[in-house]
Amino acid sequence: MIDYSVALRGAFFDIAAVADSADDIASHARYLDDGVLFLRDGRIHALLPWQEAEQYLHPLTGYRDLRGKLLLPGFVDAHVHYPQTEMIGAFGEQLLEWLTTYTFPVERQFADADYAAGIARFFVSQLLSHGTTTALVFCTLHPESVDALFSEALRLNMRLLAGKVMMDRHAPEYLSESAEQSYRQTRELIQRWHQRGRLGYAITPRFAPTSTPALLAAVQQLREEFPDTWLHTHLSENLNEIAWVKNLWPEHEHYLDVYHHYQLTGPRSVFAHAIHLADAEWQCLHDTGSAVAFCPTSNLFLGSGLFRLPTCWHQQVRMGIGSDVGAGTTFSMLRTLGEAYKVSQLQSYRLRASEAFYHATLGGAHALRLDDHIGNFHPGKEADFVVIDPAVTPLQRLRSERCKDIYEQLFVLMTLGDERNISETWVNGERVWGNAAEE
Ligand code: GUN
Ligand code: ZN
Repeated sequence: MIDYSVALRGAFFDIAAVADSADDIASHARYLDDGVLFLRDGRIHALLPWQEAEQYLHPLTGYRDLRGKLLLPGFVDAHVHYPQTEMIGAFGEQLLEWLTTYTFPVERQFADADYAAGIARFFVSQLLSHGTTTALVFCTLHPESVDALFSEALRLNMRLLAGKVMMDRHAPEYLSESAEQSYRQTRELIQRWHQRGRLGYAITPRFAPTSTPALLAAVQQLREEFPDTWLHTHLSENLNEIAWVKNLWPEHEHYLDVYHHYQLTGPRSVFAHAIHLADAEWQCLHDTGSAVAFCPTSNLFLGSGLFRLPTCWHQQVRMGIGSDVGAGTTFSMLRTLGEAYKVSQLQSYRLRASEAFYHATLGGAHALRLDDHIGNFHPGKEADFVVIDPAVTPLQRLRSERCKDIYEQLFVLMTLGDERNISETWVNGERVWGNAAEE
């Protein structure tokens, strides 16, 4: 008899180990068409084939029958802005104009703690209803925005990383602060939230153009004081942005060198976008163990460019997938993977389903240095997972019936799937979201 709190029977897919190539991922892929997942104390206790599991089922506790559903590790969103939830689909601008026209006025509202709390609740419920159980999140300049998000994530016991935006130039008056104030407020927030429950603090300078040297020096100091925090910023997203950085920081060899100079590269440093990188920047990302976030829907929506996934593999740089809401156009990792496939097609790279789902789960966790805790069904890992109904529309049913194996099924899911396919989302061994009453 296994001592467990919950047992779930269904089909399971995950990637057993961190990989260093797409072929390597395929060799670590695991599919159980009829298995039982045993949970205990918020963790994965065991995942066994039905024939082996049956003998361990407790006659009273029993199991929930999810046959017909597919269980996957919870999705990891490696870059998202919660305050931008309300501005998805802002028309017509590319990055720099999009920021001044749409983004800054929206972020201003988060000075109001009640406003922030309302959007934070909405945002977290969107993550969960889309199957995302972990995210690395930008808040706004206001400490209230961070308190609101972390309070909600703590209530649900989520593994979530976030931080206050830091910016001390080239922002409207109402969104500006001094480097000193930014340092002080960030420090207080780290002390309040870092490593509370499953939360982690990400020090979050917005990007080089909105940072003075004094601000980046303050970030460096915080990183030295709190070496196990994360660093989260933007890098090389848009050609005008890159030209601006060159102009503002002429003494630096390239964009990444601005951050590297202040020792902001390294393990737990995550750079969103990384589209237009020179070889030396890829090399620096690799050498320092930094990670990047590939945000396909955002990169297409803002016309930023095409992330070079093959180069990222070749340079052995850790990578996660980001929705980048609100420049990104969906919270759905399934839809985001579908767009990643198209971005790759435009570069004659075939993004297989096994690779795509790796990036959205264990690979994303690896990029965020959370793969010891989450990312697959390995015993001892935290029980964050999603229950997927692979066919919820007539078209999905027609297509799905013709799938010859799990890989085709997963590929169809990332082509036609979205939040309608998420039946349930589990966090820390608890069902925190479901699209129907539990039987
Ligand atoms: N670069 C600096 N700020 C932002 C932002 O809010 N969104 C995106 N996509 N890029 C940025
Ligand atoms: Zn962003």
